[in-house]
Amino acid sequence: MDVLVVDHPLARARLSTMRDARTDSAAFRAALHELTVMLIYEAMRDAPLTTERIHTPVARTDAYRLANPPLLVPVLRAGLGMADQAHKLIPDAQMGFVGLARDEETLQPTPYMESLPESLAGRPVLVLDPMLATGGSMAHTIRLLTDRGATDVTAVCAVAAPEGVERLKESGLPVRVVTASVDERLNDSGFIVPGLGDAGDRQYGTA
Ligand code: PRP
Repeated sequence: MDVLVVDHPLARARLSTMRDARTDSAAFRAALHELTVMLIYEAMRDAPLTTERIHTPVARTDAYRLANPPLLVPVLRAGLGMADQAHKLIPDAQMGFVGLARDEETLQPTPYMESLPESLAGRPVLVLDPMLATGGSMAHTIRLLTDRGATDVTAVCAVAAPEGVERLKESGLPVRVVTASVDERLNDSGFIVPGLGDAGDRQYGTA
């Protein structure tokens, strides 16, 4: 499984703002918006294009557009903070939604919402979630997608734990990970260390 770590200085700076416990909700959301632009930009680097000939005011030239715009799937709640920015960069993208809440004791994801197209055969999918911790939520989401025929899934995360990356690797699911950082580890409560806390709570307040 491919893991792309986007460690551009501007991405590092935004992630540092998100990590800092002194950062308030508004500044956290702003930093996540900006980081999302960078992560999506890199996630789409090898996307195939179609070409057509156009006229500039001066000459004829090739013009490009995405051959197969992806489906965007923010994982609620925290992934909502990435959805609009991803959509701005890829205006032709369709958007689906998955709602999951991780049980604080068992760390198992509890699904509460699912709104996805029936068939995803031949469509690339970008799953948006700021955090990949145990990987349970991401694995659950990817299975919903592969059940609908998806074979090309990219998990776009601000920060990931090595345990979550390993779990996705071992799952054999057709996914690659694009993240700004693979951190040190998970702690006993299932939080990423050093991480950034709970991305849903930091954006929207405690659920
Ligand atoms: C967080 C995060 C991921 C999940 C990661 O969401 O946004 O969805 O936990 O954990 P995992 O990799 O161990 O499954 P949470 O369940 O706290 O819900 P929220 O987005 O509503 O805050």
